[in-house]
Amino acid sequence: MQTKNLQIPVERLHKLRREKNAVILAHYYQTADIQDVADCVGDSLALAQWAARTTADIIVLCGVHFMGETAKILCPDKKVLIPDPKAGCSLADSCPAEDFKAFVDKHPGYTVISYVNTTAAVKAVTDVVVTSGNARRIVESFPKDTPIIFGPDRNLGNYINSITGRKMLLWDGACHVHEQFSLEKILEAKLKYPDADIITHPECKQPIIKVSDFVGSTAALLKHTITSDKQRFIVATESGVIHEMQKQSPHKEFIPAPPNDVTCACNECSFMRLNTMEKLYNCLERETPEIFVDKEIREKAVKPIRRMLAMSE
Ligand code: 13P
Ligand code: SF4
Repeated sequence: MQTKNLQIPVERLHKLRREKNAVILAHYYQTADIQDVADCVGDSLALAQWAARTTADIIVLCGVHFMGETAKILCPDKKVLIPDPKAGCSLADSCPAEDFKAFVDKHPGYTVISYVNTTAAVKAVTDVVVTSGNARRIVESFPKDTPIIFGPDRNLGNYINSITGRKMLLWDGACHVHEQFSLEKILEAKLKYPDADIITHPECKQPIIKVSDFVGSTAALLKHTITSDKQRFIVATESGVIHEMQKQSPHKEFIPAPPNDVTCACNECSFMRLNTMEKLYNCLERETPEIFVDKEIREKAVKPIRRMLAMSE
């Protein structure tokens, strides 16, 4: 369920933003009203790239905690705010840092590649960070016989293994939103709309990826809907991204992929949806909640993030 927002005058928010020299960065999974007031809306890679480049004094990260942490790691001297500090991530939670470090220590000689959906402490024991937008390119930049540990998303890891022919060792984590899409119901939708492309985020399970016409990050899915001749798309990712798809292609039709349980709004990320316009306004006005990262962890975690950014230019 989308959280109800109190009416926040948009001009007041923008005035505050200008006075404080703040920038509002939003992920595609935010509610439509937040996306509409943000200075930049993008996928995880774009959010990290914008944070690394901004000249603003304050970054308001409308997304989940690991996205705010990544911005803070890249910009330690800036104030990084998040509308709701409880906006976590089930995928990041599926990879506790101590357990991941023990796994890494058990496999000396392995290159450690971590998805950006991880805590700063996991990034601190990582050689290079990836997002869903650059994972293939970064994995393929290593010689084919490089032993690689990939964490924490087993679905993204399996997908990258299948398209690159690698045999990366996978951490057994997953996202609760992307794991719950129903293959059966997606195929029923395809029978109903045979002309539609099934477009899928790589955090989905392999049987869904196998029947998909296109697989990619949220930004890649959006681009596909703009450039494709198709007029209909069955969208297997968090349904927030449909807002920008519909804005970019008002004449096309977007069908949210049905979840297993049709009685719930399971294709909405409950963490992402904790952020509201009211919390966004309050956090900018009060300059809290702020994201902090321990200095020692930050100094280690910044290296694999910067390495990713350099490999994504
Ligand atoms: P993107 O890399 O497409 O932004 O995905 C982030 C995410 O959290 C997916 O669940
Ligand atoms: Fe994390 Fe999944 Fe939400 Fe993305 S959709 S932020 S991976 S819980």
